[in-house]
Amino acid sequence: MLANRPTSRWIHKIMKDLNTEIACIRLGNIHVIPLTSPEIACEIMTKQDSIFASRPRNWSSEHVSGGFLSTILVPYGEQWKKMKKIMSNELVSPKRLQWLQLKRVEESDNLVRYVYNQCNKNGGGLVDVRLVFNARHFGKGREDGGPDFEEVEHIDAIFTVLRYLFAFSISDFVPCLRELDLDGHKKELKKATKLITKYHDPLIEDRIHQWNSGKRTHQEDLLDVLISLKDVNDNPLLTLDEIKAHIMDIMIATVDNPSNAFEWALAEMLNQPETLRKATEELDSVVGKERQVQESDIPKLNYVKACAKEAFRLHPIEDINAAHLSMEDTFVANNTYFISKSSYVILRRQGIGQNPRIWKETFKFKPERHLEKDHDGFKNLSLNEPSLKLITFGKGRRSCPGMVLGSSMTIMLFARMLHGFEWCMPSDETTIDLSESQRGTTKAKPLIAHAMPRLPEEAYQIS
Ligand code: HEM
Repeated sequence: MLANRPTSRWIHKIMKDLNTEIACIRLGNIHVIPLTSPEIACEIMTKQDSIFASRPRNWSSEHVSGGFLSTILVPYGEQWKKMKKIMSNELVSPKRLQWLQLKRVEESDNLVRYVYNQCNKNGGGLVDVRLVFNARHFGKGREDGGPDFEEVEHIDAIFTVLRYLFAFSISDFVPCLRELDLDGHKKELKKATKLITKYHDPLIEDRIHQWNSGKRTHQEDLLDVLISLKDVNDNPLLTLDEIKAHIMDIMIATVDNPSNAFEWALAEMLNQPETLRKATEELDSVVGKERQVQESDIPKLNYVKACAKEAFRLHPIEDINAAHLSMEDTFVANNTYFISKSSYVILRRQGIGQNPRIWKETFKFKPERHLEKDHDGFKNLSLNEPSLKLITFGKGRRSCPGMVLGSSMTIMLFARMLHGFEWCMPSDETTIDLSESQRGTTKAKPLIAHAMPRLPEEAYQIS
């Protein structure tokens, strides 16, 4: 495990050499079952969902989830049910999304304003796409809408947590070596979670104090919602630690996917200007050139959605994320493969998205492949893929509750950036290098692209 880093790439090589879509690799005492077969993935997430609905109980998950108090990393059981219900019904329900719509518009406006301001700086608009889109406001932010030191530090720490959480830490697979921290993951995770809580905890504690002292009586955001939830006896439903764990979950669940997808999609599209042209033509015909894209435009933006979906297929932020733990011995694929109790089943997001049996011209960025016509014309394309031929939000009990929010955040990011700006390569480049980083599936070099406003100035006058 120490010699073959990153482990995800090593697993990919093993499966490629064996020419298999399912494998069993023993790491420490644990059977790890990586999958690139959509059919077996579907069986596991539907017919056998009740067997595979748990998560591993390891050090990294325990540390990040505040002692298994949240949703994403928590083994199947009462705590997971409680927190998932709150997440689905109280935080990302349609009613709540409607309630927070204005805040989302404000965030989109901020982002457009920031890129617009960048265009007018340094004699013409070179934008570091990763820096801009990985950064979301946490503190006050800068005058021009950009990220300040606090936001950068906070967001970097979240990305560090995501990098190490599912990175096959020795401490998680060989617990007796945990104290030695041979790969250094434990130290990195501890440092990153400490940085995050440095920003979160005072805000959460102060907010609870405001509610308790009667200074605050109106809910304005999700933190207020979490603090105000009551049990049947009218006592607070969540403890302070549960609220903190929930906020951590929201942060790690939300931040990485949309920004990574946009960076990769734009890189691919700059190498294939035809795709950029089609996307902007669609945006101009649906939205016009006098205003910014709004969420209500989304149903009509099929080509833009296809670009996002293609980025999720080819370039998911990680090949491997949360494992599904089997709670019983079982067989899959018509009794062909035995999976023992306590195995870690891993849906390899990139392995599935790049499965050559499923996808023709596998490595080509080709948004058109997601556009299907039925007798009424083009369908309203969804980023979700229930067939699991690519993994966007998963399926079954452990599927993503944030599908609607995650989809609209991603599509709005794509749509606003492609509609509001003309993008081209820096003048000294003729092609964008599409290599992946040594660590995994992120881009090796941050994408630097030239942005120019393409709408009349009034369209950027955002209040
Ligand atoms: C484009 C954005 C997003 C993508 C692509 C995405 C994708 C995923 C995937 C692949 C999983 C794992 C499913 C599995 O284990 O089989 C997941 C789980 C989860 N996601 Fe998302 N997600 C996104 C946004 C969000 C948002 C906005 C939220 C909430 C604010 C959220 C909350 C969660 C939670 C709580 C889980 C864990 C569910 C469980 O273990 O029961 N996600 N997501």
